[in-house]
Amino acid sequence: MQISIVRTSLAIVGALSLAVATRAIVPANAQSGKAKAIDYAQVNLVLRNNYCNDCHVMSAGAMGGLHLGTREGMLKGGHSGPAAVPGNADASLIIKALTGAEGVRKMPPQGGSMKPEDIEVIREWINQGAKPSVCSQALSDFYTAAFAQKWDDAWAACQKIASQKIDGVRTDFLAARLSLSVLLHRNDEENFYKEAAIAVKIRPVNAGLFDTIASGIVNPESKFKHRDTKLALQAAELAVKDSDRKSGAILNTLAWAYYWRGDRAKAIQTANEALKCHDAVGGTKDEINASLKKFGG
Ligand code: HEC
Repeated sequence: MQISIVRTSLAIVGALSLAVATRAIVPANAQSGKAKAIDYAQVNLVLRNNYCNDCHVMSAGAMGGLHLGTREGMLKGGHSGPAAVPGNADASLIIKALTGAEGVRKMPPQGGSMKPEDIEVIREWINQGAKPSVCSQALSDFYTAAFAQKWDDAWAACQKIASQKIDGVRTDFLAARLSLSVLLHRNDEENFYKEAAIAVKIRPVNAGLFDTIASGIVNPESKFKHRDTKLALQAAELAVKDSDRKSGAILNTLAWAYYWRGDRAKAIQTANEALKCHDAVGGTKDEINASLKKFGG
């Protein structure tokens, strides 16, 4: 992912310098001098790559009342009103939050800052009018369908996203991210493995996404005919590495990946480690204990 982001931001820089270069030789109103149009899909990927959607999509709680899964969610905004003002990035709450403007809580809240070139993608898209696109519409359709548990419609929206060819934007990554849980609901093993093969290449690694890949495969209730334990182990190990605080739920997935690979001792050891984590309470604790029982530990 980082590669395509770098490529994309270079394209923007390239387009801007082209604008400067052409201004001297073409009339000021020439279209060719304009910066490259940004598609909403690119904005959505930037937000996902920066973990914003871990806290700001409806399914994960939409903190601050803000759903950043769709263009409409951003325009509607959260408790403080619209997060984006089309045509005016500087007046937009999302840019204020990202740049740490006075009186606005800085995002991301865990500290650190979004990379300037990523902020630039959002800024440029807002300044260009925060326009809708085929992808932005498909994302809205996706969430509408997923919330209504219409898994076929949700899968169709994912395919629509993947079919869009936008220079420098990995729409296949965006579609793979969205589709995994939908395909699990559809019990669609073939397409799950196809999308999982794309999703494991996504960088930066997102613990939640990689846990979905792994747990989809190792879940003892799964009706899949084939367990690709190699893929599950790879995804689970990356998910564990990405979590800043060790998560019992994610370690439990890793334990199952070891179990299905035939390494019972390591499965037991990992599940015991999972029990010591901050989130090993309630249902998660019960699940880890059930795993231990199954492993014979
Ligand atoms: C760990 C969870 C978490 C992450 C990650 C996160 N946020 Fe937030 N965000 C929150 C919470 C909680 C609030 C509400 C804060 C408040 O009201 O003081 C919030 C509020 C906001 C608001 C203001 C919403 C409103 O209407 O008041 C914006 C804009 C925002 N976040 C954008 C982002 C962006 C962009 C990212 C990614 C860089 C991000 N957030 C990452 C938890 C998160």
